[in-house]
Amino acid sequence: MVTGKALLAGVMGWPVGHSRSPLLHGYWLNQYGIDGAYVPLAVPPGRIEQALGALPALGFRGCNVTVPHKEAAFRLVDRLDESARRIGAVNTVVVLPDGSLEGRNTDGYGFWQNLQAGAPVGWDVCSGPAVVLGAGGAARAVAVALLDAGAPGIRLLNRTRARAEELAGDLADDRLQVLDWEDRAGALQGAALLVNTTTQGMQGQPPLQIDLSILPLSALVTDIVYSPLITPLLQAAADRGNAIVDGLGMLLHQARPGFHAWFGTDPQVTDALRRHVLGPA
Ligand code: ATR
Repeated sequence: MVTGKALLAGVMGWPVGHSRSPLLHGYWLNQYGIDGAYVPLAVPPGRIEQALGALPALGFRGCNVTVPHKEAAFRLVDRLDESARRIGAVNTVVVLPDGSLEGRNTDGYGFWQNLQAGAPVGWDVCSGPAVVLGAGGAARAVAVALLDAGAPGIRLLNRTRARAEELAGDLADDRLQVLDWEDRAGALQGAALLVNTTTQGMQGQPPLQIDLSILPLSALVTDIVYSPLITPLLQAAADRGNAIVDGLGMLLHQARPGFHAWFGTDPQVTDALRRHVLGPA
């Protein structure tokens, strides 16, 4: 239902046509019978400042920000919440009652909620170190979430080691340890969790190359890639008996705080929603 009083939000990206967020928020708006709309906003690089600045004038409650604007939004909003400050990027913007813009980052929240929802009973993040592959924006969000969840250690490995060093330096937590990409098979020793945040295994990309033989069978394996849903890494982990969690739920759960802020309802992540978001896009 969209009337003249509809609450407005959307997603700014370039290109934005691949974003599944309109499908996702549209499903919830319909499910909860909310008078609102969530639209794709194709904002070219260089126009993000104008676009964000226009939100209050247009009466928008806020928006999501996706590639390539997350770091620009971080610099442009009037204030940042703690998660955005620590992750160094903004994926959710809320227009406050005085018309100013608050930048938040819900990617780490989405990652952790998805992991908790999908992990087998008895799996405990505190039972061993986590291994995080990659050092991009997603790895930052994952590392922050794992530190907050109480991971006893995080082994960070990235093809370009300097980026991993920078991430560890920024987060300044002595539980973070940077290891060489070449040593990734050995880094799995005793791990409770393996997370792939690299683009390897994504549709059109080669599979992630990693020997899993040292990984304990009690370890949980997750991939933030969700296209395909079961990446070669997840398949290999499942084949040897590790529990796996796919990446789709991170997308679904990261959307919840924004939906709540703009439309006033904390929405549920269900199997029907998973099928809806996977389906036509
Ligand atoms: P995002 O911000 O979405 O996480 P990104 O900044 O492009 O995306 O990061 C992509 C990650 O995939 C990086 O960790 C990248 O490693 P580099 O920092 O060395 O570029 C990793 N990656 C991309 N291609 C890779 C490859 N062929 N082998 C290993 N890692 C790769």
